[in-house]
Amino acid sequence: MNDSRHFLFLVASTREAADAGGHLGNTEWLAQQAAATLPANVTQTWLHLARMNQPPFVDRRHTTGQYPMPEGDLKTLLEATLAATDIVFVTPVYWYSLPAPLKTYLDHWSAWMRVPGVDFKERMSTKRLHLISTSGDRSKAQPMIDSVKLCADFLAMPFAGALWGKGGPPDAVHGDADAIAAARQFFAA
Ligand SMILES: Cc1cc2nc3c(=O)[nH]c(=O)nc-3n(C[C@H](O)[C@H](O)[C@H](O)COP(=O)(O)O)c2cc1C
Repeated sequence: MNDSRHFLFLVASTREAADAGGHLGNTEWLAQQAAATLPANVTQTWLHLARMNQPPFVDRRHTTGQYPMPEGDLKTLLEATLAATDIVFVTPVYWYSLPAPLKTYLDHWSAWMRVPGVDFKERMSTKRLHLISTSGDRSKAQPMIDSVKLCADFLAMPFAGALWGKGGPPDAVHGDADAIAAARQFFAA
């Protein structure tokens, strides 16, 4: 069966690899459990925001009012974002909120809405936004989940739901059986 879906996984953890074998962070590991259920003919792109070079966002809404087409890693991010049918934020909770690399990426959405010819806002409204997160405490993840949903709403993107697991030290989420079971269903809807 032809499946034209294209999932873009944006990994926001800043955790240093714990060993040379590329030990995964909790959130990325949980996201991989969900991604493993996608049919083989669904395209997957994984980008690690903390390993990319994102310049600080500058608010030019009321000066030049527009932005040039981005270059370098920002261009890669814009193109990957536009190419996706489904965008997955793979992000730990940092201070009840988003890690800086994902926050910076989101701030650049404000620029991309103002790059002539891109039609960013209208194109984003056709994409689903998913959230996969880990942290120490589910109840305290709620502000971040609410914030991501509001960002989706702002661009009229369908919010396809949040998957949360109990993280902490390396591999902590491997012990969260409920999260692993939920991961196996997460993209089924
Ligand atoms: C800078 C920083 C801030 C954090 N803030 C929170 C927090 O507000 N609430 C919480 O429950 N956990 C917090 N944590 C813990 C992480 O959310 C948790 O360890 C998570 O599983 C890390 O995911 P990773 O292994 O994918 O990097 C914080 C961790 C860091 C490094």
